[in-house]
Amino acid sequence: MTKKSEQIKSIKGTRDILPPESSLWLKVEEICRGVFDVYGFQEIRTPIFEDTDLFMRSVGAHTDIVSKEMYSFKDRDGRSLTLRPEATASVMRAHLNSGASGREVKKYYYAGPMFRRERPQKGRFRQFSQIGAEVLGSASPSVDVEVLEMLDLLIRRSGLTGCELLLNSVGCSACRPSYTEALKNNLSSVVSKMCEDCQRRASDNPLRVLDCKVSADQPIIESMPKIQDYLCEECSEHFQDVISELDRRGQIFKLTPRLVRGLDYYTRTTFEVTHGSLGSQNTLLGGGRYDGLSELMGGPPIKGLGFAIGEDRFLMAVEKSQILESSLAPEVFIAWLGEEARKIAHGAARALRVEGLYAEISFNSINLKKSLSAANKIGARWTLIFGENEVRRGVFQIKNMKTGCQEELLLGELVQALKTRQGKSDLT
Ligand code: HAM
Repeated sequence: MTKKSEQIKSIKGTRDILPPESSLWLKVEEICRGVFDVYGFQEIRTPIFEDTDLFMRSVGAHTDIVSKEMYSFKDRDGRSLTLRPEATASVMRAHLNSGASGREVKKYYYAGPMFRRERPQKGRFRQFSQIGAEVLGSASPSVDVEVLEMLDLLIRRSGLTGCELLLNSVGCSACRPSYTEALKNNLSSVVSKMCEDCQRRASDNPLRVLDCKVSADQPIIESMPKIQDYLCEECSEHFQDVISELDRRGQIFKLTPRLVRGLDYYTRTTFEVTHGSLGSQNTLLGGGRYDGLSELMGGPPIKGLGFAIGEDRFLMAVEKSQILESSLAPEVFIAWLGEEARKIAHGAARALRVEGLYAEISFNSINLKKSLSAANKIGARWTLIFGENEVRRGVFQIKNMKTGCQEELLLGELVQALKTRQGKSDLT
């Protein structure tokens, strides 16, 4: 407990997104929604907390997420609830609860906070945001390719360069056990030389050993068998179809046979997008197919594929200036001097805002010099000046802050004058 006089601080691993950064978040979300719209994805909103069992059964009891990182608590009636560590399980649950039979194809997207009790560091938080999309109801490799194409557009629209798409197939419940067995056998003679986590994973969840980041373990990991050599015919065919269609569309990817994901529900295609600027937490997004998830939740066979972008990391990687340029600075700064001018100036601000122009107005009466420096400070394109003299004559001054040119216009011309100037070069 903090003492009464102490300033209350935010919880470790959480953060506040303040302006102007929050504008950047909105902008990225807008870009994503724009891309989701043209691919036919519609928004789904699911609760922040769910029955703990939902994540145990879907994400997997032996995963780091479930075994170490969930924020779970008992409700007053003794039921165990969990703050969602991810949203795919919730989307599938909601889809099943809505009465879906599996015959229709549904495309959902979502954006919102997730919770994992990880060790906080750059790019890793305990409350973080994801923007994700899920396609439910189709096993076709065309779904995998369409989603990867959509991701490519989304990344390009955000102005992000230097990303790498890593691609793998993790097989299915028919072929993966023989790979896991081979991995276990190969690990048995060397695992004692590996890190503590790998020693634990080698028996609990051998696939996760491949995801170890400890550099001393890498030569051992490299020597392990590759899953491609163990895929069944159907999984192999599915993966080949995805690869050749991506090639045909000219989408660049890197086959990464040891790419495994930290959630147990994946089958067949899995992928991640990484970005070099992010250090050890360099995965911007991850996803893949989860053809058995519905059955794990007691539903009918409904195939699925999706991804989630780690919004916090995505924003760290995005070239801020490029995307923000046009969104922050006001079009107009309005300055006024004297009580009569205040009333007219407020009317002018309202009229411009109603027309969709971003106008800032001074809260206090200010003189010309102060008003120009205030307008410069916030980067306004135009300053409107309403002095006592102007108001008496029914006019106002408009100053172009780039060229310094100033004109006197009639009050009645206000909205039209600014609308014609909006979007035109500052030098006209
Ligand atoms: P995930 O790989 O666990 O997949 O998370 C997706 C992304 O969320 C990661 O690539 C990362 O960018 C971000 N992320 C994860 N944990 C943190 C954290 N502690 N702090 C900041 N960012 C983080 C899933 O969650 C799956 N539900 C994705 C999916 C959707 N698969 C199919 N459909």
